[in-house]
Amino acid sequence: MKSAVVFYSLYGSTKIAAQAIAQKKGAALYELSELRGKRTGIFGFIKSGFQAVTKKKTKLADYFTDEITACGAIYIGTPIWGGMPAPAVNSFIHHNDFSGKDVYIFTLQSDPEVENMSKKAFSYLLSLIEAKGGRVKGLFPLLGSSNEAPNADSIMEQVSKKVI
Ligand SMILES: Cc1cc2nc3c(=O)[nH]c(=O)nc-3n(C[C@H](O)[C@H](O)[C@H](O)COP(=O)(O)O)c2cc1C
Repeated sequence: MKSAVVFYSLYGSTKIAAQAIAQKKGAALYELSELRGKRTGIFGFIKSGFQAVTKKKTKLADYFTDEITACGAIYIGTPIWGGMPAPAVNSFIHHNDFSGKDVYIFTLQSDPEVENMSKKAFSYLLSLIEAKGGRVKGLFPLLGSSNEAPNADSIMEQVSKKVI
């Protein structure tokens, strides 16, 4: 069964986790990139948090629909913003059909209470994926960096211990 890892990352923590998962699972790796919108600086931070909390979607350069159609297992990764997934990941799920596919979700957040912090996002993503026909088989909350300097060793260790 072919597998894919699809992720969005602003500062790099989710990207490191995605690369480690792709290597561990022998999966193809696809990065979501937004067509518009600045997310850096204080205004970018406030806008991003607001959009995530209000479950906004955003236009993406590629939704990887053909690539996803060919896969049986898909790992989806997102940073947590205001307790919720990034808008790019909402868009990716809305644009694709997950019928008959096994889906695994991994989140990166800076709050060390990763289980608590990711609960709301997991519950939301689970409902989106099930509405698109997918079966959610695993939820992996991981601790990321709070800034632009991800700790690659810590993230790779968490992936090797937690992600199945
Ligand atoms: C707009 C914004 C909102 C955030 N909200 C939360 C939050 O609610 N809880 C949390 O633990 N971390 C929060 N963070 C921190 C990120 O989840 C964390 O830095 C994560 O590692 C970022 O992943 P990335 O490097 O792949 O972008 C927030 C970061 C940003 C930019």
